[in-house]
Amino acid sequence: MAEIIIGTGAAVPAYVLDNDGVAELVETDDAWIRERTGIRQRHIAKEETTASLAEEAACRAVVDAGIAPNRIDLIVVATATANQRMPCVACEVQEKIGAQQAACFDLNAACTGFVLAYQTAAAYLKAGIYRTALVIGSDCMSQVIDWQDRSTCILFGDGAGAAVLQRQPGLSYLPVAGADGRKGEVLSCQALYEEQPFYKKSGDSGFLRMDGQAVFKFAVRKVPEAILEVLESNGLSTGDIDWFVIHQANRRIIESVARHLGISMERFLVNLQEYGNTSSASIPILLDEGKHSGRLKKGQRLVIAGFGAGLTWGASIVQIA
Ligand code: ACO
Repeated sequence: MAEIIIGTGAAVPAYVLDNDGVAELVETDDAWIRERTGIRQRHIAKEETTASLAEEAACRAVVDAGIAPNRIDLIVVATATANQRMPCVACEVQEKIGAQQAACFDLNAACTGFVLAYQTAAAYLKAGIYRTALVIGSDCMSQVIDWQDRSTCILFGDGAGAAVLQRQPGLSYLPVAGADGRKGEVLSCQALYEEQPFYKKSGDSGFLRMDGQAVFKFAVRKVPEAILEVLESNGLSTGDIDWFVIHQANRRIIESVARHLGISMERFLVNLQEYGNTSSASIPILLDEGKHSGRLKKGQRLVIAGFGAGLTWGASIVQIA
């Protein structure tokens, strides 16, 4: 048994903050941000929330898949920025789209979240437990960004992407995933426990803190390793892959991955110039854009690969119906 993507959807907030807008908040400029990251603008949630964006992306994916919502057996949402601790975002999505038969849960692996949610759903399908799953990545990173810290606030944007997976007979690909919990401090964000006076807060509690160079070095080493590992474990080579869809954090990271793998940048889908780093949403937004722009075609074989806080990483081979 294998899984195949039969529908995709995406949603981003209406408000667009370009690099000049960020330069009004911190000491930076458009040329520096473009040169160091490739980012030109990002969407920031003013009215929208992690749940509302997830619901919008999910509705579009279900319509694109052409299935009735009550045929969905499982909803998994990858997010690190849920509006509330409970109920989970997946349950909010279920209620909104009317997928009453679905089991629902969220998982958090920061920017690797969508890849791990995809792998989790695919495992249920391959095991024959479920037939149809809705996998969503949704994050509003703007909520946890220190808008006075120019080393992080230039990077992130808000958004959501979704994919409907369906079980089908055929070859099943093995996934790759890993983590190095010893490197947790490299990229972290403390939860706020304001209501609990006994909980001692540090000065920067609630904001994302990142050692950008350490994350950069980790990504350029680990992402090509994970891609080669997933190819090798499935008896494939880079030549067997039509598109590489990797987490959108920094254009220089993607260029470095392409160099390490010895393949052209033209085989990578890239949209970070429009959205910045949307964390768990970046890969499904790319899948949706690729599908609807006609670049991703039926039967093509893709690699999706993510990396992020934890530190975590993961790669899978996926197919579009
Ligand atoms: N504007 C202007 N100057 C800046 C800015 C800015 N926004 N930010 C930093 N600088 C300055 C620094 O102060 C430094 O100045 P100095 O040389 O006088 O000390 C100089 O620019 C160089 O700073 P670096 O930090 O060395 O810049 P670098 O080239 O490493 O780029 C960046 C920084 C863009 C953050 C890069 O390290 C990066 O992209 N890292 C990866 C981050 C990432 O992928 N994060 C997401 C992970 S996924 C997840 O789970 C959330």
